[in-house]
This record gives sequence, C-alpha cells and structure tokens, in this order.
Amino acid sequence: MKRFFIGNRGIGKEIARQLATKGFRVVLTARDSKAGTKAASSIKGDIGFLVLDVADDQSITQAAESFAKESDRLDVLVNNAGIYPDEGFDILTVPRELLTGTFQTNTFGPIRVIQAFLPFLSRADKARIINLSSGYGELDGLSSSVPSYCLSKLTLNGATIMFDQALRSRGIAVNSVCPGWVRTDMGGPSASLSVEEGADTSVWLASEAPHSLSGKFFRGRREISW
Ligand SMILES: NC(=O)c1ccc[n+]([C@@H]2O[C@H](COP(=O)([O-])OP(=O)(O)OC[C@H]3O[C@@H](n4cnc5c(N)ncnc54)[C@H](OP(=O)(O)O)[C@@H]3O)[C@@H](O)[C@H]2O)c1
Repeated sequence: MKRFFIGNRGIGKEIARQLATKGFRVVLTARDSKAGTKAASSIKGDIGFLVLDVADDQSITQAAESFAKESDRLDVLVNNAGIYPDEGFDILTVPRELLTGTFQTNTFGPIRVIQAFLPFLSRADKARIINLSSGYGELDGLSSSVPSYCLSKLTLNGATIMFDQALRSRGIAVNSVCPGWVRTDMGGPSASLSVEEGADTSVWLASEAPHSLSGKFFRGRREISW
C-alpha cells in the first residue's frame, strides 16, 4: 500500500481523490482540522488526515510525529499548499511582509516539509516528491503585476533543482509541476481547466511516470523549460 501526503481542497483534494481511486492510501492535510476531516470523509477510499500548516515549523514537526504513528515510510510527497495574495500590488509596491508571507507558504513550506519527511521518504522504495509550482514561476512567465507569487514559485523551482541534486543518489525523484490554469478558489471560475485536468500531471508523476524523470518541470505530462 503506497502512501501519499497532500493538501485539502482545490487541486490537492482532487489529487487525493484520483490517487485513492487508484487504490492507494492517501494522507490528506489541512490547517483546519474540521475542514480537513470533512474533505477526507468526502473522498471514497483509504484516506487519513493530518493537521499541517506549512508556514509553521512546529506544525510541520508535529505532522511528522503524527505520521510516524501511522507508517515508517512515505512513497510520495505532494507539496500542494499555495497562496496567491498579490492583488493591489506590483513589483514597484509590494511590501516586505507580503513577500515574506508568500514565501513562508509557497517556498519555505515545501522546503521544510521535505526536510521533515525525508526519513520516511528515504525508507520508501523509489520515493517521489512533487512540488506544485506555476507558469508564473517560469523565467518567461514572470509578471511584474504578480510579484510575490511569481518570485515564490521561481524560487520553489530552484529548490526542486537543488533537492534533485541532493536526493538523486538516494533514489528519490523530485519534480515541479505547473497544473495549468485551473478552476479552483485560486484559479477562479473562468480558468480553462477542470480540477480533474489540473490534477492529472501530478497524479501521473506520483504513480505511472518513469522514476528516472527527476529535476524537471512539467505541464500536461510534458517537460517545460524553467
Ligand atoms: N488554480 C490554478 O490555476 C493554479 C495555477 C498554477 C499553480 N497552482 C498551484 O497549485 C496549488 C494548488 O492550488 P489551488 O488552485 O488548488 O489553490 P486553492 O484552491 O486556493 O487551495 C490552496 C490549498 O493550499 C492550502 N494552504 C494554503 N496555505 C496553507 C498553509 N500555510 N498550510 C497548509 N495548507 C495551506 C489551502 O488550505 P486551507 O483550506 O487551509 O486554506 C488549500 O488546500 C498551489 O500551490 C498553487 O499555487 C494553481
């Protein structure tokens, strides 16, 4: 039974649903215990739940301690949590607190979660780490009107490259994914893709994709440039 570790609504919840349908044990996470339990109970299959705020190191440590009671290994870690808080600001006006807050969740969060769950990932056979990035984090996709989000995902992509360097010899694959523009709370109702479509590449990387694919950036199951 494989175990996956992911977020609680939008694309994360859909990744959980699709992986549960494939017969895997899924551990869903959320900051809010009520919301997370509700999300987990709405998905058919073998679903667990853990409280996790990726912007809080203590919460990450507690989540790892709780996870240890359920398993000594983790096959796939999906870093899905993200915020998009730039409305009203651009690169000329974005305040330090906004930059810091976005990086805490979108960039430092995934880095610290990988560090905390590395013992579990190391015990798995051919573990996989998937970082939910964005086209806004592509060098050609940076937008001066979406300052903190773009920079946080650009840096997350840098972290993907570095974790690949550090973990390749341990047999752990690390990739970034752009899900496309997806109809979620973040993407809004006009987005071009359904959540099913938005989850597809992450689910593929979590399950069927060749494990040799690592240190890369994907959209629509194809490698894209950084
Ligand atoms: N939708 C798009 O068009 C799109 C495009 C490109 C990339 N992405 C990326 O795809 C990922 C998922 O996006 P989405 O569209 O599903 O967004 P969403 O609907 O806004 O959901 C965001 C998820 O992140 C969680 N989250 C936020 N801050 C957190 C924290 N500090 N700790 C733990 N969880 C936290 C939220 O949990 P709560 O319920 O607790 O808030 C929620 O589960 C994000 O990384 C996003 O940047 C999305």
